[in-house]
Amino acid sequence: MEVLVFEDYDAASAQAARLVETQVLENGQSVLGLATGSTPLGLYKALIEGFKTRGVSYKNVRTINLDEYIGLAKDHPESYHTFMSKRLFKHIDISLENTYIPDGMTHSPEEECQRYEAVIDNVGPMDLQILGIGTNGHIGFNEPGTDPTSLTHVVELVHSTRASNSRFFPSLDEVPTHAVTTGIQSIFKSRKIILLASGKNKAAAVAQLLSKEISADFPASFLWNHPDVTLIVDKDAYALVQTEGQ
Ligand code: F6R
Repeated sequence: MEVLVFEDYDAASAQAARLVETQVLENGQSVLGLATGSTPLGLYKALIEGFKTRGVSYKNVRTINLDEYIGLAKDHPESYHTFMSKRLFKHIDISLENTYIPDGMTHSPEEECQRYEAVIDNVGPMDLQILGIGTNGHIGFNEPGTDPTSLTHVVELVHSTRASNSRFFPSLDEVPTHAVTTGIQSIFKSRKIILLASGKNKAAAVAQLLSKEISADFPASFLWNHPDVTLIVDKDAYALVQTEGQ
């Protein structure tokens, strides 16, 4: 795992955007694995900027998102469909039929998981996967205890994840209890992975990750077993990492 530490969130986001743009410029038909949440917002802003000012085109790029809440319609203000549309897709020249996000309104979540894993296999694998990290070490919605061989599956969100995401909903009660998420093994199909973390509230998670202890109790730690992961953090998120000599 390569670790890149930047002064602040904007600098970290700019570096992530450089890596994504390099991928897209090298291969205009790249498959990007995308995440939602607060962390990649700066990256997406920088990519929109790159599209508008430097002409980086996403015309033939395909995207595969990590997850979606069960029970939220695509046009629900807090669905990940809405998030991706508002934060990235409608600002760049990507074709919406080239963007994949699990269907949260499926009548059969289990079938949806199988369908989505087939999307990863048929459209993917992801050339470059963007990940954020939960304070409990989740990646995607792979909460502590997730099996490293997991494919796309239905997950019951743990209280801390729902509480954290309740900032986007009128109340905690309205945060969905379940989601469809790509699994650890689905994520591992990616050729390259960029894990982003920013801010003091991620400092303990980043320190735990960089302790290199691999355990299902902290799903992001499985990333130590992937051959091409770059961790991009700002100084606040890196603050609790014990460096040699300290
Ligand atoms: C989002 C996702 C989650 C988030 C994580 C961090 O698609 O899969 O794993 O990356 O919950 O969320 P933020 O960035 O809001 O702190």
